[in-house]
Parts: sequence; structure tokens; C-alpha cells
Amino acid sequence: MARIIEHYAKLPGSYLFPEIGRRVRAYQAAHPDARVIRLGIGDVTEPLAPAIVKAMHAAVDDMARRETFRGYGPEQGYDFLIEAIREHDFAARGVAVAADEIFVSDGSKCDSGNIQEIFSLAARIAVTDPVYPVYVDSNVMAGRTGPMGADGRYAGLTYLVGNEANGFQPDPPAATSEPVDVVYLCSPNNPTGTVATRAQLERWVSWARANDAIILFDAAYEGYISDPALPHSIYEIEGARDCALELRSFSKRAGFTGVRCAFMVVPKTVTGVGADGKQVSLNALWSRRHSTKFNGASYVVQRGAAAAYSPDGLAQTREQIAAARGPHRRGAHRVRRRSCAVPVVAHPGPCGVVGAVRSPAVRSPGGRYARRRIRAGGRGLLPALGIQLARQHRGSARPYPRRVPRPIEAT
Ligand SMILES: Cc1ncc(COP(=O)(O)O)c(C=O)c1O
Repeated sequence: MARIIEHYAKLPGSYLFPEIGRRVRAYQAAHPDARVIRLGIGDVTEPLAPAIVKAMHAAVDDMARRETFRGYGPEQGYDFLIEAIREHDFAARGVAVAADEIFVSDGSKCDSGNIQEIFSLAARIAVTDPVYPVYVDSNVMAGRTGPMGADGRYAGLTYLVGNEANGFQPDPPAATSEPVDVVYLCSPNNPTGTVATRAQLERWVSWARANDAIILFDAAYEGYISDPALPHSIYEIEGARDCALELRSFSKRAGFTGVRCAFMVVPKTVTGVGADGKQVSLNALWSRRHSTKFNGASYVVQRGAAAAYSPDGLAQTREQIAAARGPHRRGAHRVRRRSCAVPVVAHPGPCGVVGAVRSPAVRSPGGRYARRRIRAGGRGLLPALGIQLARQHRGSARPYPRRVPRPIEAT
């Protein structure tokens, strides 16, 4: 009898987004005439930028000719893409990243889910809360947590709560709190949209160095940062090369959710401790893992990603992002106001979206109460754009659902 890994049993039946998708499909099947607005995973709504499409067409032609055809590529990624990343994402911001510190992949979801594999099962993990759910689920699957409690939190994980009081930017764990070895930071944050300032990142880096901790910095939404004072990369902070890995994705920056391309930076200066107490390079470990379990993102896809850095590609994708920023900001603002009475939110935009996670209100009695009120009152939930979410009075659990013409129950 094949025994299965027991940790999966700690998870809810399905990952958050597919479950939302399943419920929406079931609802649509039962109510074919209903206008249903998906509040699940956010996806792109605009086609790829013309410069990217052109480069991918040319790459397909390369694959059709013996002289230019490519088979397996380098596991870490083609030089043409790695050089474009180094120049545009890092050198342009005064950051030096070596070519062999960049690992091209087929998505930040995979990177953020897989990276925990190189840490000991005894590693103590912290996540900011709320945040992209993959960080927690992948550590639950690996066995680094106990069961989920009634509050929806897993025993053994450290949750650093983002709320109105701290501007949705929790500080590093206090010296007196439980020790942490690895922390996931998401900036810009999914779902709150908050971006860590230079001062906040400096505090994180100095905490990590003082505590021999590792920061996993997920900057998937980096392309949406508009304030020139805000750092785009954690390596803009002195000392971060000693303690941080950075994840980037083309999904949000260039609309690649269906194309699949991302990368992770693993500086050679970041180390962990082996069982024998010796320092081990995380770059070497990740390189071993990556080349063993991954055979590289496809040539056509990497040509498309590289074209996002061409003059036309940059101009076109920036235009798409600028058009998407308004709806994103409004949506993220609603999440932050903790007034959101729905368990998931999504904000469709032309070029990537803030994905869906539980809002803080879900855990509160107010959130549940608000949802009951909405259903009982025949009121509907509408999505971010131009639609009113039920509101809770600041400081009380009293909801203020607004009546909408055609109610939709989304979850
Ligand atoms: C914070 C964050 N990181 C990573 C991802 C996954 O990106 P990718 O499409 O590259 O897998 C998402 C997707 O919504 C995200 O919100």
C-alpha cells in the first residue's frame, strides 16, 4: 500500500483559486442567465504587447529551421534574457547581479512554492498576513507546520499581521518573539497593494543579518510601483545580497500569466547552515535543485520575455500597466480598508492583477456577519470597478451593505 505524505491532509481540500473557480462554474451552470463576476484569481484581460508577439513569432520561425532550431536550453535561462534582466531590472537601478545568480523559470508560483525545498524541515517560517497563499500552503505540504486552527492559521508558522495600525507593513519580529529563520516578504503586496519603503526594507535587512535569517522577497508586482522614491529591488538596500533572494515574474509586468516566465535571483553571498554547522551557498543549492528538477523555460517564451525589455516592448508594456494602475489601486485600497465583507477579491486589469486572498475581514465576526447580511438582504457583491462592497463601520463590526440592482453571490 502506498502511503501518502500526511501533511497534505492539513490543507483545505483545494487551493484557494481553483476552489473559487469551481464554485463560480457550478453557479454559472445552475444559473445560466446570471451575470457572474469572478472574485477569484485575477488574470490578464489584454493581449500580449505587439513587440512581444513579434519576437515570439520570429522565435517560432527559428524553431522551424535546422540552423536556428533549439532543443534543451540552458537550465538557468538563455543569455539574451539574463543579460536583458541584468541591465534593465538591476543595473539601471544601480544594482549589480551576476549572470549566474539569475534563474529563469516558468513562473513565480513555482519559484515561491519550490524554494522552501532547500531549507531544513526544522526551519522556522514567517509570513506577513494577509499575503499570497502559496507561501503558507507550500510549507504546510512540506511538513513545517502543525494543523490549521479555528482561526485559519497553522500551528508552527509565524504570522506577522499587516493592519491599519502598521500601514499594512508589519515590522520584523521583535527580539523577544519566537525566532524565525526564513521570512516571505511580498512587495508590492498581494492583496493589500502596499509597497515596502526603503526605511522598512532597511529594517528587514538589518534584522535578517542580525538573526542569520533569509528573506524571500517576492516582487512579482514590481512593474506597478509608480512612486520614484520606492525601491523596486531589495538589492537596492545595502547588505541585502547577504540575506535575500528575490522573485520576479513577467506575468504582471508583461501579461505573461498564460505564457509563463519568471526568474529568481539567488546571490552567491547568501548562505545557510548545513547539518555539520558549515555555511552552504544557497546559489549552489538552488542551482542543483533547478537543474535537477527543471529543464528551462521554452526558447519561444524567453524570446518573448526578452522582447519586453526592447524599446518597443518597454513602451508598450508600460502603457498597459499605466492603464491598469487605476483599477488596481482602487481594488487594493478596498482590501486595506478592512471594510471588505467578501472572503476574496480580485481586480481585473489589462496587465496582471492583484490576485485573490482572504481579506482580513473574513476572519472577523464582522466579515461573516456582513456576508450573512448580504445574502439575507438579497444584496449582491460587485467587483472592484464601480461596484460597492459591503462596508463595515470603522471600529465596529456593523456592516453597511449597499443594495445593487442584480445580486450576485460569489462564494
Ligand atoms: C505575489 C505573487 N507572487 C507570484 C505570483 C505568481 O506569478 P506567476 O504567474 O509568475 O506564477 C502571483 C500571482 O498572482 C502573486 O500574486
